[in-house]
Amino acid sequence: MSPYEKLLLQNKSWVKDRLDLDPDYFKKLAKIQNPDFLWIGCSDSRVPANQITGTEPGEVFVHRNIANVVVLTDLNMLSVLSYAVEQLKVKHVVVCGHYGCGGVKAAISRGDFGLLNKWLTNIKDVYRLHADEINKIEDEQQKEDRLIELNVIEQVRNLKKTNIIQKAWKKDQLPTLHGWVYGLKDGILKDLCKILPGDDIDPIFSFKDV
Ligand code: CO
Repeated sequence: MSPYEKLLLQNKSWVKDRLDLDPDYFKKLAKIQNPDFLWIGCSDSRVPANQITGTEPGEVFVHRNIANVVVLTDLNMLSVLSYAVEQLKVKHVVVCGHYGCGGVKAAISRGDFGLLNKWLTNIKDVYRLHADEINKIEDEQQKEDRLIELNVIEQVRNLKKTNIIQKAWKKDQLPTLHGWVYGLKDGILKDLCKILPGDDIDPIFSFKDV
């Protein structure tokens, strides 16, 4: 059996397990999507949003990219954010990074990764912004870990720069923004930051008519 055939077979047994527990499982799920959470995470295969948070299909709206960055010219991310916030009215947006992130490692390695270089510039910008703090750390591993944390915090801050979040805060007092980091070695999610609706926005990023 090819590896991909195994996935299709596993799907069949998953469907069976679900239906054994609740014969209407898929009927119910197909009717409505009403998640409370938008997850912006890394594409890394070891950080699947649902499994690590113990959530079920229907509970988390998900966007993933390399190194969980919120790039304000990324139409894909902005479309997901817009739909999640304006239509689904999620209560929480979580940016989740993870220690050992290959994207962050690649950025600080200064290697030439072709097309990926442009994407990794976003992480290098976070480094530049926090160079004083990061350069004080002597241990290379701790340096990388701290950059991973600061990257999450900066991406949460980037969310505040969107008119999507600013409008939703004014209109619905939603969503709360969260920054988390996941440990590949222990499976633990660490809470790094939380920003409540109405939080201060740097004036230059604050739309005056929103
Ligand atoms: Co990663």
